[in-house]
Amino acid sequence: MAVELNEASLLRKAIEGCRLPVRMGDTDEWPLAEIISKREHAARKEFYVHYIDYNKRLDEWVTSDRLNLGKLQPPMKKEPKSLSGAAKGSRPSTPDREIPVPLKKQMSQNRKRKLGMLDKADDDSSQEVAAPPQTGSLRPHGGDKCSDDVVTRIKNVHMIEMGQYRMKPWYFSPYPIELTTEPVIYLCEFCLKYVRSRKSLERHRSKCTLFHPPGNEIYRKESISFFEIDGRKNKAFAQNLCLLAKLFLDHKTLYYDTDPFLFYVMTSQDSRGFHIVGYFSKEKESTEDYNVACILVLPPFQRKGYGKLLIEFSYELSKFEGKAGHPEKPLSDLGLLSYRSYWTQTLLEILIGLKREEGSQAMVTINELCEMTSIRKEDVVSTLQHLNVIHYYKGQYVLHVSDELVEGHAKSTRKKKTRIDPKCLHWTPKDWTKRGKW
Ligand code: ACO
Ligand code: ZN
Repeated sequence: MAVELNEASLLRKAIEGCRLPVRMGDTDEWPLAEIISKREHAARKEFYVHYIDYNKRLDEWVTSDRLNLGKLQPPMKKEPKSLSGAAKGSRPSTPDREIPVPLKKQMSQNRKRKLGMLDKADDDSSQEVAAPPQTGSLRPHGGDKCSDDVVTRIKNVHMIEMGQYRMKPWYFSPYPIELTTEPVIYLCEFCLKYVRSRKSLERHRSKCTLFHPPGNEIYRKESISFFEIDGRKNKAFAQNLCLLAKLFLDHKTLYYDTDPFLFYVMTSQDSRGFHIVGYFSKEKESTEDYNVACILVLPPFQRKGYGKLLIEFSYELSKFEGKAGHPEKPLSDLGLLSYRSYWTQTLLEILIGLKREEGSQAMVTINELCEMTSIRKEDVVSTLQHLNVIHYYKGQYVLHVSDELVEGHAKSTRKKKTRIDPKCLHWTPKDWTKRGKW
């Protein structure tokens, strides 16, 4: 009895902001986690936890048997606002009590307004196809996020179904609130409209004429195509794409306007159409020479080389534009892995090629490497440093590619089958600065 009482009181003390070891997923590991939220579900208390030092995609609802209440740490003292922003990775303050449901709903609706979302399904529950948000473009947002409140820290969509695939979301995305109570949200795989049932999707498909993304097909080689979509001309598609992408992108914030962006959607073609594999967005005008704003490969297609194919395509566009580019920061953990791998392979390919042709005395400057690849100087230098190929020798810097690196490179290129073929790119860059309006 005493033990039970003790547990009940500890459970009461386990509030938002507390930290304690939690058994992660189906593993036997008990990493330290922070309680983000609490709820009563089927007469049981459940806790939404974030595992400290792990990516937020692993956040989950857990029952109390997975909490090590004996090691409960009280919430840390809130830092003054001016300080908390500076501490990278620090979590915004969390309320020290559960948010009552009506407030949650209200916050969500306020949020929708803020995002300019026209949520017809709110007004007309018989509406099968919820209207797309009026606005919304995914842009990175460095450091702290003004919208990173408790609601947006909790995954809200259980599952999506798109074409042949079901995908479990990694993060919050502001889909209409009444759709988020459904076990599955169904997406038209071509226009990305979202509906609440398979029947509604079938009805939609009988009217929807698309079998590929809208916009211009600017690249095709074998089954891979790229479509360029103007965020102003194809607003509904661009907004639906942003909503979908947000499910798998954490450090991106939904902004109002898709107009300033172009979206490059990569598809894989079969007899049923052009199926979306991934995309990247790009500002029409970037004062900082960003060539990618957001990049995503949908989970069923990840770890097959498509991420690097998208990255290669983004640099190919930069080459056509005659300038070096770089992705907007911050990069996610997976984004950094992919970029690091792309930069490494691209630079090693050139250095090894030169060594083969001209021997170990081959000459190349950092600027030449930038020109050949359209990779920005800082990224070239950091990659070469990371590879430990820059050495200071007899008063000058020399690049030395070891046999080990050559072997490693040969191995990784054997894995990478598909490459972008510049001959298949039919595209002329537009000078957006000369246009009155995007
Ligand atoms: N674990 C370990 N390594 C990984 C993982 C993983 N889960 N995923 C990719 N990698 C590595 C691969 O091993 C590969 O390296 P290698 O060729 O040296 O072996 C490299 O990363 C690229 O792999 P790809 O198969 O080409 O990448 P993928 O198709 O999986 O796409 C992407 C990468 C786009 C980052 C994908 O993981 C994704 O969409 N993630 C969610 C969204 C995201 O984080 N986007 C980047 C945000 S940053 C920005 O938008 C500017
Ligand atoms: Zn459709």
